[in-house]
Amino acid sequence: MNKVFKVGLIGCGHIAETYFRAQKYFNNIKIMKCADINNKSAEKCASIYGIKALSVNEILNDKEVEIILNLTIPKAHYEVAKKALLHNKHVYSEKPLAINFKDGKELLNIANKKKLYIGNAPDTFLGGGNQKSKELLEKNTIGKINLGNAIFAFPGVQSYHPNPESWFSKKEGGPVIDMGPYYLTALVNLLGPAKEVSGSIMRGVNYRTIGIGPKKGKKFKVECPTTYLSTVVFENDTVIRLTLSFDVIAHQRNHIELYGKKGSLIVPDPNMFGGSVYICKKLGDTWKELKTEKMSLGKINIRNKSLRANESSTNANYRGAGLSEMAYCIENRKKHRCSGELSLHVLDIIQSTMKASKTGKKQKIKTTCKIPKKFTEKEIRKLLN
Ligand SMILES: NC(=O)c1ccc[n+]([C@@H]2O[C@H](COP(=O)([O-])OP(=O)(O)OC[C@H]3O[C@@H](n4cnc5c(N)ncnc54)[C@H](O)[C@@H]3O)[C@@H](O)[C@H]2O)c1
Repeated sequence: MNKVFKVGLIGCGHIAETYFRAQKYFNNIKIMKCADINNKSAEKCASIYGIKALSVNEILNDKEVEIILNLTIPKAHYEVAKKALLHNKHVYSEKPLAINFKDGKELLNIANKKKLYIGNAPDTFLGGGNQKSKELLEKNTIGKINLGNAIFAFPGVQSYHPNPESWFSKKEGGPVIDMGPYYLTALVNLLGPAKEVSGSIMRGVNYRTIGIGPKKGKKFKVECPTTYLSTVVFENDTVIRLTLSFDVIAHQRNHIELYGKKGSLIVPDPNMFGGSVYICKKLGDTWKELKTEKMSLGKINIRNKSLRANESSTNANYRGAGLSEMAYCIENRKKHRCSGELSLHVLDIIQSTMKASKTGKKQKIKTTCKIPKKFTEKEIRKLLN
């Protein structure tokens, strides 16, 4: 039996529900108390889930809480994670680690000094889709990978999110900081760390219109680039062309394609846990589908269309797996997979992509990280209810 870690949640917004759902899947995490800068949000969350609402200060000083789950907005991740560590709590945050590299690095330094765990989403790379791809690459199924393509492109959240302004704000806005963590973490898990990035930007329109909620019809200013076209070179010399855009109505490209010496492989959506992997080893052959539905973190668990835009009713969403895996590693003094080291490296690639694209100058990636080990079915089953 695993020890059940007592979790204190800070940031009771949209994504919180997914983490409460995670408690049903994983056996070693229990959200006991919650807090939010907005007391009403904390109280509402507490009454829905039958837990206690506290102030942010109270939850940080609460003796019972062992891990702070930081589900605040990106620009508050650093401040909240730092407070958690300084109050001697382990911390697990939603993506990104911070909105700039310097802050992310400081968090890691504090965690290392205090011998506390710092973990970070995304944890989707622990899912069946990415792990199946990893298994195939480790078996050398498509040979040495030279090239690849990755894309996230859609029109932006303004049509269905009542408060879309922060996705277009100067500091934390744009598709690289929002969706980059999923793509780059998935790629680092498959290819290893990156060493260099170059790119270009497109600005898109100057104003967007809110399509839903109390502010429906209101125009707001777009303060950041909304399309990035970048080239990421990995330490193993694989070159990936990455498109991240809020300016595309629709497309039919695959999320991630990898081209090796012996064949090509399609990696499913890195924003989700499941999906099929496809392989083709000869020009003109039909693509072989490898389903992940029978894998523990690939099973479809979203049956009804939820309100979340990224949850289709035929997918697997086990967000919280990274938190559970971190808790297990704290108990067993192991290195966790959704580590601060990995998320700092991803933040480094994100910031370097933005700089390279804006200046037109190639950027060297300053950090590196270990490739997370394959998450085996045996290890996953230990965490599942
Ligand atoms: N919504 C999604 O589908 C989704 C999916 C994946 C990841 N995420 C990530 O999860 C995080 C939260 O997203 P969300 O959609 O739940 O946002 P949200 O705006 O709905 O909720 C964030 C909550 O944090 C609170 N908050 C903000 N600053 C705070 C502070 N300094 N101290 C305490 N509380 C504070 C806000 O009051 C709000 O209740 C983001 O980092 C986002 O990137 C969201």
